[in-house]
Amino acid sequence: MSHLVAPSILSCDFAYMARDIEMCNAAGADWLHVDVMDGMYVPNISFGLPVVAAMKRHAKMPLDVHLMIAKPERYLKHFREAGADIITIHVEACTHIHAALTEIRQLGAKAGVAINPGTPLNSLHPIVQMIDVVCLMSVNPGFGGQEFIRSSVDKIRNLKKLLSAYKHKILIEVDGGVKLDNAQSVLDAGADVIVSGSGIFQHDDPPGAIQTLKSLKRNTKAA
Ligand code: DX5
Ligand code: ZN
Repeated sequence: MSHLVAPSILSCDFAYMARDIEMCNAAGADWLHVDVMDGMYVPNISFGLPVVAAMKRHAKMPLDVHLMIAKPERYLKHFREAGADIITIHVEACTHIHAALTEIRQLGAKAGVAINPGTPLNSLHPIVQMIDVVCLMSVNPGFGGQEFIRSSVDKIRNLKKLLSAYKHKILIEVDGGVKLDNAQSVLDAGADVIVSGSGIFQHDDPPGAIQTLKSLKRNTKAA
């Protein structure tokens, strides 16, 4: 499978969200990455359910909803109804992660788990059978436009090794600070889904940036 590119809509111009989503449609983006922040689990507040529902009316690709909210289990059904196709919750934010992942799948969405830069990979062991996507954070969550944490490349490699022991395909998504200048190393380390916010929307040519990210080829020898 070739990799997927997921523009992070957090970095778009919110006053022109429909226009920016349509740009992503036309450029062939694979998923739309949607960062929901509550001002509790992370310091920032982004947007909530009605805005996600509005995005759904314009996006041709699946909505990849990344919940950076405390106790996300309260809102899984609501985000599914708003149009989320993939629902990702933070292992650190959820008291009953096993139950929440079960519910996401019962709702008919793909289940994702996000892990912060300071969270060890072994926190995935008890739940790995229940997830479709691991969102490996390469910045501390809360804001777009932060610098990529270099040690994430090794963490991606280690995650790939860990997941290779399992039969079902679990996608590795890398989120935070990924741009044209470091996407190749992220891909070579094992990323299946590249999230990029400021790397696309602050680029002089956003559709060109999406297409360049899509055109990269994984060099497995480099891993
Ligand atoms: C960070 C978010 C990211 C962010 C990525 O908390 O989860 O998805 O929008 O944006 P960039 O690519 O600018 O780091
Ligand atoms: Zn995100």
